[in-house]
Amino acid sequence: MTNISNQTLNESVSQPTYDRSKLKSRIVHLGFGAFHRAHQGLFTDEVARKSESDWGICEVNLFGGEDLITSLREQNHLYTVAEKGAESTDVKVIGSVNESLHPSFDGIEAVIEKMAEPQVAIVSMTITEKGYCADPATGLLDKNNPLVVADLENPTQPKSALGYIVQALKVRRERGLTPFTVMSCDNVQENGHVAKAAILEFAKLLDAELGAWIEANVTFPCTMVDRIVPAATEETLNEITELLGVQDPCGIACEPFRQWVIEDNFVAGRPDWNIAGAEFVADVVPYEEMKLRMLNGSHSFLAYLGYLGGYAHISDTMTDEGYRKAAFDMMMKAQAPSLSMPEGTDLEGYAKLLIDRFTNPSLKHKTWQIAMDGSQKIPQRMGGSLRFHLEQGSDFKWLAAGIAGWMRYVSAVDEQGNEIDVRDPMADQLKAVCDEHGQNVSVVPALLAIEAIFAPEIGQNPQVIDAVSSAYQSLIENGARATVAAL
Ligand SMILES: NC(=O)c1ccc[n+]([C@@H]2O[C@H](COP(=O)([O-])OP(=O)(O)OC[C@H]3O[C@@H](n4cnc5c(N)ncnc54)[C@H](O)[C@@H]3O)[C@@H](O)[C@H]2O)c1
Repeated sequence: MTNISNQTLNESVSQPTYDRSKLKSRIVHLGFGAFHRAHQGLFTDEVARKSESDWGICEVNLFGGEDLITSLREQNHLYTVAEKGAESTDVKVIGSVNESLHPSFDGIEAVIEKMAEPQVAIVSMTITEKGYCADPATGLLDKNNPLVVADLENPTQPKSALGYIVQALKVRRERGLTPFTVMSCDNVQENGHVAKAAILEFAKLLDAELGAWIEANVTFPCTMVDRIVPAATEETLNEITELLGVQDPCGIACEPFRQWVIEDNFVAGRPDWNIAGAEFVADVVPYEEMKLRMLNGSHSFLAYLGYLGGYAHISDTMTDEGYRKAAFDMMMKAQAPSLSMPEGTDLEGYAKLLIDRFTNPSLKHKTWQIAMDGSQKIPQRMGGSLRFHLEQGSDFKWLAAGIAGWMRYVSAVDEQGNEIDVRDPMADQLKAVCDEHGQNVSVVPALLAIEAIFAPEIGQNPQVIDAVSSAYQSLIENGARATVAAL
């Protein structure tokens, strides 16, 4: 079959310039999704292009994505990233992946054995918020999560990422091998700390000694990752085919901007990702919070209120002056004041850059896609700044409008009475609460009372209830566009 690995590609396509046979699977990555392909995969490729690097990646999908792994194998683990600017597109073939596994067809043991191979130095993850099996309100392991319950009962046949990592570390310890670094690249506040807390608690429930060994020997660096990578669509894949000259079912399009700030704390070495523009720092947390609150927080705000206002893509919301101004104010008035950044950080410049990135019309980033998993995202993206404003006594109407937008969205009916396909691990519970209240403002305290999403000091705070109720009332009476314009 002709594909990217055996076809002559269009001349403008940039291809790996290094000997791929020298790469070793020193990284096992869980989550060969859209984002990883356009971010860590590309950074690792660029390091190999610019230096003598033997860092290769073994890709694993634990949930879904079987077809992607099959296609990746058929094309010798090469895939395409199309960086789409407002005017032109750069097409790069990525060569940093040298292997892949899927438990559905390779078996669970094969994945654990790979993670236990001596050369593996890093297990990295893009497994989405829910992959950490953490309680969104506390960030600690949710012991009632069905995956956690199943893995504690049957630890040699894990289902969750935590179960795989702990089992692989157990095997390494038994074989006298060095441990690996666990590196989260998910959009989760203090992602390394969340991964560490969940993995240690899980390991200790299983075997206290193993838990202590992991605590003493494994590191969990935090990372701040940034690049807008919409899910692939038929349209983007067709465009990639045209640019390449051949089909690539693993191809992915993204914006030109990319950023990666990494806590430099690795137990068994790491690629020099700085060669490709990453920054290694001692403390990532301030950068993470800046990105999570300003970019992701305003993204969620635009996703719910934009979807309700009839805008399919983030770039569509940016054509509406009301949304554009509200998103900037959300960044500068609601989120920026809550941050403690290193001296000299230009938050206004950052906010303006974000508005420009959101405006890029060639990126078709769906409001529906960003709206997914709100129950897991809202506390991360808006909870910290809500607390800040409650302490300061300052105005948080933008946050209240974002939360009200989410509440209106999870009722699963849009402003025209059409059904919304709400994707969320708590979708059924949320819909049941909404159905009980109908489109009545009484739904606001009922949803705020869900402690798995809102900590009681937020959800039961009268000021929060008032502000969200007033935004919700406006959504019901005036609709999303007018509500946003009035902000
Ligand atoms: N797409 C972006 O623009 C972007 C930007 C920055 C960060 N991120 C982060 O990257 C992560 C992945 O996003 P994506 O856009 O690649 O999504 P995606 O849907 O393309 O990929 C999701 C990946 O997560 C895995 N997964 C899902 N549930 C899991 C579970 N319970 N346990 C283990 N693995 C699980 C899937 O196998 C898949 O590989 C998210 O956390 C997201 O916040 C995405």
